[in-house]
Amino acid sequence: MRAILNFPANADLIRALVTDDQDLKLMNPKAEIPFNRDQWQELVDPANGHLSFLVLKSEVTVGHFAFLRLNRELHEATLGLVYISPALRKTKASHELMQLVDKMARELLDLRLLRLNVRSTNLAAYHLYLRAGFTEYESNDEIVRMVKVIT
Ligand SMILES: CC(C)(COP(=O)(O)OP(=O)(O)OC[C@H]1O[C@@H](n2cnc3c(N)ncnc32)[C@H](O)[C@@H]1OP(=O)(O)O)[C@@H](O)C(=O)NCCC(=O)NCCS
Repeated sequence: MRAILNFPANADLIRALVTDDQDLKLMNPKAEIPFNRDQWQELVDPANGHLSFLVLKSEVTVGHFAFLRLNRELHEATLGLVYISPALRKTKASHELMQLVDKMARELLDLRLLRLNVRSTNLAAYHLYLRAGFTEYESNDEIVRMVKVIT
């Protein structure tokens, strides 16, 4: 698998990839249903400090992630909009996706710290992030906040 920058950012590519409305909501709890192109376009717009990446396997788009609120001075960002196609779930493809997250964070953007928020009920995502080296630093009934230092 490899990751490519979704640039110029195109929210239509996310719509084409994520066909399930529940998955849209898991990626972005504020997502409007049906898919609101303008809302997602804002979320992937580099002018707003966000960078969207498509994950390709055999040249087919199978996943997505984004660095949100990128702060290049502090070398920090929030990891978000993580998604892997249903056909590739439970196959460890998401582990590969997380390795691509690390690679892009380190090699392309020189990031030192990634944060993320995950719903406490989203156990697959939570365990995926734990395995990828994130640690929990705050939680309530709904949200777990996690952080990872990039070495
Ligand atoms: C989140 C997502 C990328 C995870 O990919 P996946 O292939 O489904 O994940 P896996 O099945 O490999 O599960 C990841 C880990 O969670 C564990 N897990 C999965 N479901 C679990 C459950 N109900 N309880 C406990 N652990 C669970 C798996 O055993 C695995 O752990 P391991 O690596 O130690 O074996 C994928 O489900 C997805 O795209 N979901 C829709 C969008 C989304 O939720 N994005 C994240 C928003 S924060």
